[in-house]
Amino acid sequence: MILVTGGAGYIGSHCVLSLLENKQEVVVFDNLSTGFQETIDELKKIGNLKFIKGDLSKKEDLNSLFENYKIDSVFHFAAFSQVKESVLNPQKYYSNNVSGTINLLEAMIKNNVKKIVFSSTAAIYGEVQYVPIDEKHIQKPMNPYGKTKLMIENILDDYDNAYGVKSVRLRYFNVVGADIKKRIGERHNPETHLIPNVLKSTFNDARPFEIYGNDYNTKDGTCIRDYINIEDLIDAHLKALKYLENGGKTDFFNLGNAQGYSVKEVFEICKKVTEKDIQFNINKRREGDPEKLVADNKKAKEILNWNPKRNLEYGIKAAYEWEKKLQGGLKNA
Ligand code: UFG
Repeated sequence: MILVTGGAGYIGSHCVLSLLENKQEVVVFDNLSTGFQETIDELKKIGNLKFIKGDLSKKEDLNSLFENYKIDSVFHFAAFSQVKESVLNPQKYYSNNVSGTINLLEAMIKNNVKKIVFSSTAAIYGEVQYVPIDEKHIQKPMNPYGKTKLMIENILDDYDNAYGVKSVRLRYFNVVGADIKKRIGERHNPETHLIPNVLKSTFNDARPFEIYGNDYNTKDGTCIRDYINIEDLIDAHLKALKYLENGGKTDFFNLGNAQGYSVKEVFEICKKVTEKDIQFNINKRREGDPEKLVADNKKAKEILNWNPKRNLEYGIKAAYEWEKKLQGGLKNA
C-alpha cells in the first residue's frame, strides 16, 4: 500500500488520482487544514482509497496509521506552502513542515519503510544566479518556506546515511492545470497564485486582476516563470517511485518545462482560453518575487526517463474548466 500525506491538497490529490487509476491501493493521511473533504470524497469514487484524518505533529496518529496499514512507500506532500505566511509566522512552518517530517520519518524507520518521494520546491535555490537553473545551482532560500524544504532535503540525506531511507526529492517550479475530467483541481483559500487569480477575475467584474510589477529586467517588464503541467508533474512522481523500487539511489530533480513565460504572456493565454476581455491593473512588486525562474530539467529526463508533454495553454484550459465548476457551486462547500 502507498501512503500519500497531504493527499487532500492540490498536488497530492492529483497524485492519488493517478495512483488509483493505476490500480494501486492508497492511504491518504491529511489533517484537512488546507485540503478538502470533497476532494477525498471524489477520489474515493475512483478506486481503493482509505482516508485517515490525522496530523503529523501527533505521533500517536502516525503510529496507528503504520500499525493499521501495510505501507511500502510514501509520497510526502503535507506541508504549508505560502511564502508570505512563512515570513510572518515561521514557527508554523518549522513546526509543521520540519518537525512533522521528522515524525513521519521516525514512524517509517520504526516500521521498516525505506522509500519516500518528497515534494520540494525551486524556492530552495533562493536568489537566482543564472537561468536555466540546474540542480547544482547554489541553495540559499530567501524565506522560511524554502528553508524548511531545504532542511528536509538535508535531513533526508542524513537519514539515508544512517538508516538507509532512500528518497527522491522533486523540486517543483510553477504548477498549472487540473484533472482533465474536472473531478479535482486547484483550490486554495486564500488563492495567491497567478493563473487561478486571472481566471477568477473573469467571474467577477468588480475585481480586475493585479500584476505585481512591470519594471523587471525582462522582455515586457513582468516576472518570468516556468509552468509545469500537473499531469506531467505527477507522471514524474510515479517514475520517481519506480526508480526507488528498482533500487535507485537517493537523488533530487528539478521539475519544470524548461520554458519561461512572463506574467503578461500568461495573461494573454488566459484571455485566449476564456475568450474574455480580462482587465488588469499594474500594482507594485510583490516582496520576495524573483525576476526569472526557469528550470533546467535535463537530469529528470535522463535519469527518471521523464518527458513533460503538455503546454501552458492545455494547462490553462483545464484550470479554466475546473474554475467554472468551482464557481458553479463547490466554492462555498
Ligand atoms: N502574480 C501577479 N498577480 C497575482 C499573482 C501572481 O502578478 O495575482 C505574479 C507574481 O508576482 C509572480 C508570478 O505571477 O511573478 C507567479 O506567481 P505565483 O504566486 O503564481 O507563483 P510563485 O512563482 O510566486 O510561487 C511558486 C510556488 C511557490 C514557490 C515559489 C518559488 O507557487 O510554492 O514558486 O519561488 F515557493
